[in-house]
Amino acid sequence: MAKRHESVTGGRRDGWGEMVLMGSVERYPFWAGAGEIAPEFVRRLRAAPLDAVELPSGDRAWLAVRYDDVAEVLASRAFTRNLTYPGAPRVAADFDVSDLPGAILNLDPPEHTRVRRLVAGAFTPRLVERQRPRIRAVCGELLDGLANPADLIDAFAFPMPMVVICEMLGVPRTDLDRFRDWSSAYVSLSAHPLEERVAALEQLQEYAREMIRRRRAAPGDGLLDALIRARDEEDRLSEDELVLMTFSLIVAGHEATTAALSRGVFRLLVTGRYADLADDPGRVPAAVEEILRHDPPADAAFLRVATEDVRLPSGRVRAGEAVLAVTSAANRDPAKFDRPDVFDIARPTADHLAFGRGPHYCLGASLARAELQIALAELVTRFPRLRLAVPPGSIEWRTGSLMLGPTTLPVEH
Ligand code: HEM
Repeated sequence: MAKRHESVTGGRRDGWGEMVLMGSVERYPFWAGAGEIAPEFVRRLRAAPLDAVELPSGDRAWLAVRYDDVAEVLASRAFTRNLTYPGAPRVAADFDVSDLPGAILNLDPPEHTRVRRLVAGAFTPRLVERQRPRIRAVCGELLDGLANPADLIDAFAFPMPMVVICEMLGVPRTDLDRFRDWSSAYVSLSAHPLEERVAALEQLQEYAREMIRRRRAAPGDGLLDALIRARDEEDRLSEDELVLMTFSLIVAGHEATTAALSRGVFRLLVTGRYADLADDPGRVPAAVEEILRHDPPADAAFLRVATEDVRLPSGRVRAGEAVLAVTSAANRDPAKFDRPDVFDIARPTADHLAFGRGPHYCLGASLARAELQIALAELVTRFPRLRLAVPPGSIEWRTGSLMLGPTTLPVEH
């Protein structure tokens, strides 16, 4: 396990102190606001790659912003996601998602490999293909009842992925709104006070325990039943890991998809590209990739710490130092993408890092792609004249959260 390196806490290394004095990077997350990346921030960092940031906790991290650095940090085995050792650098001062030792995102191999294997089978591209008709039906159900005007998040972008993941797990779609509030508090960094975030975590865990109790009493053939069997019959999962996996799948299974869909529809509407998709829904898959590149639901991957000295393309990271891999900046790297700040739904490459890379590469990437493709195709086909019901500037955006995106998306059709 990594040892905390003096330079992370002590600020003795050249660069850390300089960054703080510049006072240029306010705090992480950097660009919640209107959901835009601050271009001057990214440009400056590209000029001085591996600049430092002060996290809300007061700890410091290197910021990796170039595509090659970000890809390497995420893929390298020389970085750990286990930040529970004493004195580990952390994002939030009090409590955040890194504080759950058994959660899949916080595990390193070999534990990570064992836990991931138990669920990976349900999310393969082949199995996700079989889900497509059901995803289409869920979209149809929700859009058939779309009011005019409507909040597209309440009516569609939130319930769609939520219903899909609940059905895959085999849990009832009751309590969706309560789950939404807990989940939103849980993924926030500063939007909710500590007591609310801790209470939300407890409620998410209790919800998962209740679902597990019910399925043990009346087993079925969903993913949750498979996980329960792995726990009860094969002992391949501890009870805590089972609970963590259950609520993590529901949280991860909807938060990012909801954010990507609502950011995506917003972007398509304000750029006029929505009408292009309505004219030719065959362009939707490419548009989804461009939304993920240009308007991803989160600005950075989770914090990593080097367990040994690592040489990244842009410089050295010493053992014990933390790195924040800013995937959203990497997705705008001019060395990788032509005219990176232009939202171009005909862009030929899908090689963005919105789903991460390496061992923690998004488990649900195929599912999310299918959901976004089907959701957008259904939307533009049914409502070709969809428009914002309010001026774009009056839309409110999530702040102080790991997730970026509007809080409401009032539309008319
Ligand atoms: C647009 C939608 C989505 C985006 C952009 C997204 C993005 C990501 C990213 C960037 C990571 C890796 C984070 C890191 O390495 O620090 C991740 C991990 C993960 N995602 Fe997604 N995600 C999306 C949807 C989903 C869905 C629908 C599921 C459903 C199950 C899901 C489940 C997970 C899980 C379980 C992990 C942890 C994987 C591991 O640690 O091995 N995600 N996601």
